[in-house]
Amino acid sequence: MSRERPHLTVVADANALAKAAADRLLKRINQGSRRLAVCLAGGSTPERLYGLLATEPYCSAVPWNRVHWFWGDDRFVPRNDSRSNAGMARRLLLDRVPAPLGNIHAMPTSVKDEVEAARLYEVELRRFYGAEQLDPGRPLFAMVLMGLGADGHTASLFPGHAGLDETERWVMGVDQAGLEPFVPRVTLTFPALASTREMLFLVSGTGKREVLKRVLCGSDLPAARAYAEGNVVWLVDREAAPERRHVA
Ligand code: 6PG
Repeated sequence: MSRERPHLTVVADANALAKAAADRLLKRINQGSRRLAVCLAGGSTPERLYGLLATEPYCSAVPWNRVHWFWGDDRFVPRNDSRSNAGMARRLLLDRVPAPLGNIHAMPTSVKDEVEAARLYEVELRRFYGAEQLDPGRPLFAMVLMGLGADGHTASLFPGHAGLDETERWVMGVDQAGLEPFVPRVTLTFPALASTREMLFLVSGTGKREVLKRVLCGSDLPAARAYAEGNVVWLVDREAAPERRHVA
């Protein structure tokens, strides 16, 4: 399990970020020949990556029948709402590639409320995993994509939220978001997000430079608390990177 200070890989710009992320994801997906799960991030930063994966050479290189797609968090809004993370990823990627519908595990945002959605999604994750307890030696995910909010949140784990200390549940409902869009959320908890061979943070733009610096300095922000059974990789573009960081 890695809890050390984040190691940064700095790339030139948002396009280079999407390409570097796509190459890492493809490498992870093609390790092994069995069924695997990828956990997608929401927000705007991964949009370029999702669009790229739907194009060649990536589209032909992904074994779509073997890959199952889950989400680290979503806004509790209908799938066709422009704020829906699942809606975005389907529009830019999953509806444009031969991904079997049964392999797409979006959070159920048309149920009573975010708490019920979280309960149902946890049941689905446990059913997919095939056990009640997460085994450090058998991570749930091959890769978990993560973002960084300007307030230091990641997934929908916001500063000061009780969910930051959750150790049992895999999924939680969040009634109050700390940042736009101010709608209820459903989020995986740190233990569930940590059950991965690779946790890949994507950070882009000058708007993230300050908060990234705070994460790197060890400030007690949700994104700085994230950990993984496998590697934690921070892929950031030059605009977001603190000054004087070498560009890969
Ligand atoms: C969400 C996300 C969230 C996101 C960050 C960064 O649903 O909002 O999952 O955690 O990753 O807010 O968002 P941007 O990429 O849009 O800056």
